Amino acid sequence: MQAKTPSQSFTTVTDMVLPSETNPLNNLFGGELLARMDRAASIAARRHSRRIVVTASVNNVAFNRMVPLGSVVTIEAQVTRAFKTSMEVFMDVWVEDRESGERTKANEAIYSFVAVDDTGRPVQIPAITPETEEEKMRYDAALRRKQLSLVLAGKMKAADATELKALFEE
Ligand SMILES: CC(C)(COP(=O)(O)OP(=O)(O)OC[C@H]1O[C@@H](n2cnc3c(N)ncnc32)[C@H](O)[C@@H]1OP(=O)(O)O)[C@@H](O)C(=O)NCCC(=O)NCCS
Repeated sequence: MQAKTPSQSFTTVTDMVLPSETNPLNNLFGGELLARMDRAASIAARRHSRRIVVTASVNNVAFNRMVPLGSVVTIEAQVTRAFKTSMEVFMDVWVEDRESGERTKANEAIYSFVAVDDTGRPVQIPAITPETEEEKMRYDAALRRKQLSLVLAGKMKAADATELKALFEE
């Protein structure tokens, strides 16, 4: 299987915030943003693997800014690291000012996906080769995040999470 680059999975999803998607303060409901990010990230994961993908974990979501009703929201998603059957997808969420068109970063999130066959069994995916400095940094940190996710899910013993332990020993 030929290795791919993160940019080959780059995905942009732009949509606006409608009244049915807001909370009582007229800002985007968090669960709606999670669902939009899941869709954007799964497209990126499919572009990398060209397989059916399922969400394995939501590793990190930071709701740093409120997103008001009527905003135009753009989610940029890209695979940061591919393991054997799983991959990490990093997302940046941007909100566009209606008058100036200027974009402000509202949120970041990291989801993990697993490529599966028609019966839901994990299947191997292509490797990934990071190119830019940012891609290399995100690639390097992805193994730590995977280990943290597995430890929290009870699928890995903390003692075996070597990359994660190294972080606390630095
Ligand atoms: C995700 C899923 C396929 C993993 O199945 P599994 O039996 O744990 O399979 P494995 O142990 O072989 O793991 C497969 C890969 O998933 C990774 N993985 C499993 N759980 C994970 C987690 N919580 N976080 C990150 N990666 C995870 C494993 O590390 C492994 O990665 P690798 O092959 O790249 O090293 C399975 O749990 C599943 O189908 N979950 C439901 C998915 C779903 O329906 N999502 C939508 C929610 S509504």
